[in-house]
Amino acid sequence: MQPATTPNISAELRRRVETARRVLVLTGAGVSAESGVPTFRGGGNSAVWKGLPFDVISSGAMLERNLPAVWEWFDYRRDVLRALAPNAAHEAIASWQERFADLTLVTQNVDGLHQRAGSRNVVELHGNIWRARCTVCRLVHEVPSEGERPEACDECGNELRPDVVLFGEMLPPGAFEFALERAARCEMCFVIGTSGLVYPAASLPEVAQSSGAFVCEINPERTALSSMCDEVVVGKAGEVLPGI
Ligand code: APR
Repeated sequence: MQPATTPNISAELRRRVETARRVLVLTGAGVSAESGVPTFRGGGNSAVWKGLPFDVISSGAMLERNLPAVWEWFDYRRDVLRALAPNAAHEAIASWQERFADLTLVTQNVDGLHQRAGSRNVVELHGNIWRARCTVCRLVHEVPSEGERPEACDECGNELRPDVVLFGEMLPPGAFEFALERAARCEMCFVIGTSGLVYPAASLPEVAQSSGAFVCEINPERTALSSMCDEVVVGKAGEVLPGI
């Protein structure tokens, strides 16, 4: 498919893309925006659910206080997602698996759209909304896209919670360490559709660059990471990526 617009990218970026073997892609909510998934920040609004800012309803503290309310918010988000599909950005990134010898896709998104577009071995820093995990034994359960989500742990019968990293919680063991190791040895790093405000994810482009990688951001707005990037392509991921 031809891109709607030819992105304004430098000869240097084209050369880098042609020769790179080890590539790290870090994505955020903006990569799913053109599928209809609301971003958390930007666009003049910040996400609110029943009067609660998203960083309150999506917090470890709220989970302790009111697990059913947290489930209600995640059930709502899954309902929204059910009708949505991957967009041209997810598809372009999935096609990069064949293009680059060694591609690592690290996402902060929990929507599963990269996998639905065909990306494999996605490093999910913040978990996945289509999984639940036991609050006691941590056994992970799939949440089916149709029908009811499981209520209790199959193994020990205790309560389940979304298998998602909430504000104030630790990242899943191993995921960030793996991403960090890949960032430290990549030649090219793409930062796509993230505001770059949430750490430690936002440190990956800095690690990549300090290890010698060329860092390129794709975002319609400037972000906290724009000034450190070697190249900033201003535009929507679904329009820019197919043309790279
Ligand atoms: N293409 C590319 N980028 C886009 C697009 C688009 N079509 N539309 C919006 N954006 C950009 C916005 O300009 C913004 O910089 O996507 C970014 C979205 O930023 P956030 O909403 O802050 O999302 P993200 O960076 O993924 O947030 C990180 O914060 O709330 C937590 O856990 C949640 O994983 C999330 C984390």
